[in-house]
Order: sequence, then C-alpha cells, then structure tokens
Amino acid sequence: MKVAFHTLGCKVNYYESEALKGKFRREGFEVVDFEEPADVYVINTCTVTHLAERKSRQIIRRAKRRNPAALVAVTGCYAQVSPAAVSSLDEVDLVIGTAGRLSLPDLVKRKLAGEGVFDRAEAYGKEAAFEDLPWVPEGERTRAFLKIQDGCRQFCTYCIIPRARGPLRSLPLQKALEYLQEIGRSGYKEVVLTGIHLGLYGVDLKPPTDLASFLEKAVAVGGIERVRLSSIEPWDFGDKLLQVVQENEKVCRHLHIPLQSGDDAILREMGRPYDAAYFGSLLKKLRGALPDLAVSTDIMVGFPGESEEQFRRSFNFVRECAFSRLHVFKYSPRSGTKAAAMANQVSPEVKERRSREMIDLGKELEENFQERFIGRRLHVLFEKVLPGEKGVLLEGLTTNYLRVRAPGPAKLRGQIREVLIKQRGRACIIA
Ligand code: 5AD
Repeated sequence: MKVAFHTLGCKVNYYESEALKGKFRREGFEVVDFEEPADVYVINTCTVTHLAERKSRQIIRRAKRRNPAALVAVTGCYAQVSPAAVSSLDEVDLVIGTAGRLSLPDLVKRKLAGEGVFDRAEAYGKEAAFEDLPWVPEGERTRAFLKIQDGCRQFCTYCIIPRARGPLRSLPLQKALEYLQEIGRSGYKEVVLTGIHLGLYGVDLKPPTDLASFLEKAVAVGGIERVRLSSIEPWDFGDKLLQVVQENEKVCRHLHIPLQSGDDAILREMGRPYDAAYFGSLLKKLRGALPDLAVSTDIMVGFPGESEEQFRRSFNFVRECAFSRLHVFKYSPRSGTKAAAMANQVSPEVKERRSREMIDLGKELEENFQERFIGRRLHVLFEKVLPGEKGVLLEGLTTNYLRVRAPGPAKLRGQIREVLIKQRGRACIIA
C-alpha cells in the first residue's frame, strides 16, 4: 500500500504530516511522493483564509485525478472547521479533523476493506489533551521541526484557529526533552520549535513551565547546534525570554513576530493587546540586545473598516520596522468570528491593491536586509544540494534566516560551515 501526503499552511501542519507519515510507515504503508500514483492520498489542509481553503480543495481534486481509484483522506484545520463541506466534495472519502489522528492508518485500512467508517471532526471541549504525534526522522536530517504546543485562547477577532485547534495545551516537558534528545542523536543540527501560540508553552503543564526555561534546556541537548523559534506574539516577548535568547548563541537570530497592523485603532478592533509604539520599542530592545537579528512578521490588509489613512499608517510603520521579510494576508472573513460580522467590510479590489503594495514593500525590505550582509562572514547549515554550472551548489540558511547558495562538496549537506556572503543569496565557503 502506497500513501502520499500534501501539506498546506503552517509549520505545525508540516510537523504533523511528518509525524503521520511515520505512523503510516509503522503500519506497513510505503510513503511516496505526492506526484506519484498512490493508493491513499492524505491532504493536510489549512483554513486560515478563504484562499487557503480553495488551495486545499484544488489539491484534493488533483489527488483524485492522479489516481481516481485512490482513497482520499482529508485532515487538518479545514477538515476540523468545515467537515460537512469537505465530505460533500465528490473526491473525498474520509474526513478527520485535528484530533485523534494516530488512528488514521487504521481508519484508512478499514475503509479500504469496505467497512463503513465515519468521518471524525468533533468540536473541541475544554479538556482536550495534547495530541502527541510522536516525532519521527524525516528527509535529509538537517533541520527538524517539533510541535511542543497546540491550541489558542487568544480569540483575535479575525481568527478561526482557536476553533480549528482547540484549547491551549503543551507537550509535557519530559516528552519534549526526549524528542529533542532523539533529534540530536539522529544527526540533525537544528530544531525548529513550533506551536499555535508557542509563547505560552508550558503554562498549562503541572508543574507549569515557560518557553524561556524550555529553551534553556533545549540548547543544552547533545548534538543540537541551533534552536529556532517559530512565531512569537509581541506581548509574549518578556525579559526572561530575551535574556535566554541573548545568553545562548545557539538560539537562532531570527524571530517571527506577527504585527498584523501598524494602526492602533485597527489593532484594537482585532483584539490585539498592544499598539504600534509598544511594538516599535520591543523591536528596539530586541535589536539592541541581538546584533544582526532578523525580524519577520505577518501583516494583514483590508481588515473591516481599514481606511486608506489607516492602511497608509500601517504601511509606513512596516517600513519603519525594517522587517527582514513580510507574510502579507488579505483579510478574509471567517464565519463565526467577530470580525466577519463587522460592518464596513473592505472591497476585494481595495484589498487586492493594498496587498500588492504591501508585498512590494516586503520585497524591498527583504532586499535591504540581505544587502546589509554582503561582505560579512556568517554560518550556514547546508540543507540542499543543487546542480550548479561547475559542480554542485549547496543551499542553506544562516542563523538569521538568509538563504544562501555556495559551491562546495555535496558531503557538506547537514553540516554548518562559515561562509563569506558575496552578493544577495550567494556565498563562498571559507571554513
Ligand atoms: N484573514 C486573513 N489573514 C488571517 N490570518 C489569520 N486569520 C486571518 C483572516 N481571517 C493571518 C494572520 C496570522 C496568519 C497565520 O494568518 O496574519 O498571523
């Protein structure tokens, strides 16, 4: 039996797909590339915007076209939030939301054997447990992802994710450390810690802990040379976390801190508990403490009521913040959220134009950031080997998330080396 996966959306989804692949392998399936014919296709979906749902549906159709006889199982946030809509698609055979997924291979086997198997996407209760999909080695063993936290209780007015992911919960500390040790032993040099509201890791554990303490333990794990944090909310960046990052060079000098808007009134309407001035002073503090730091962000355009002046304010603030990279989102009404019911929805044309402007600004800021490092020596963890003009090119990331290519022997994949940055995206290995 061959199973193929396609994953949409965030790093948490990516982690969960890898873990599910491991589970399918242990159940006797062969995991093949999504472009190959398979007996089972698993689509791990995203529901954060209308566009993400549309892409999810496109992939579902593509899977069925590749092998009309295949079983198509749909999981993830779209499946969790809209199980009826998903199961009504002709191409879909099985729907399982974001809980209880370790039983997925078993459900698939029973379905293939002709048993009547029911879709599963029950709404979350307050007592939901952390879905521990055990970490498994994946791909080239260079950079590992680990989900240590799930769920959210923030309820930003635009966001459907609390419904898709359930209440706030953390992977127990002992378990998290075990996975980290396994990651270190398996030859990975870098681990990316992920979660839905990662900054609140540990608050629900008994005894409670926090991300800063966990990070301190993570950098001490044998074999791990880098620990990267995924998204951290601006209000979660306390002095303790900053101190741990500052004192530990192994923590990557890249932080993703979602701004969403640079206009105070819009931030208030979004239910985000900070204003632009707070965000600006946080950036100043972080950059003062962490030289060469890259800060990327999520920015939304066209939130209900966003006037031209408010957009302009947001745009100018984003420029001032000199982010290393932007993820631009057009506001998309998610049914059941507060913002979806707000008057003054912004027209699609206006959203589109603001989005284009913001994306262009993002490109400019990204280039500016990259240019700052030309002529500098940085360390790169090589993850990919690509064909070059003469010999091969290695591609990897610096601690501050610059993606660079350098000529060098393929055997350096999985290794960290010092490079000299020659131009944007290009480097040569010096040590
Ligand atoms: N519309 C547009 N973007 C959204 N995001 C979350 N909800 C919505 C929505 N309804 C964006 C936010 C968040 C990112 C993961 O997705 O910017 O940080």
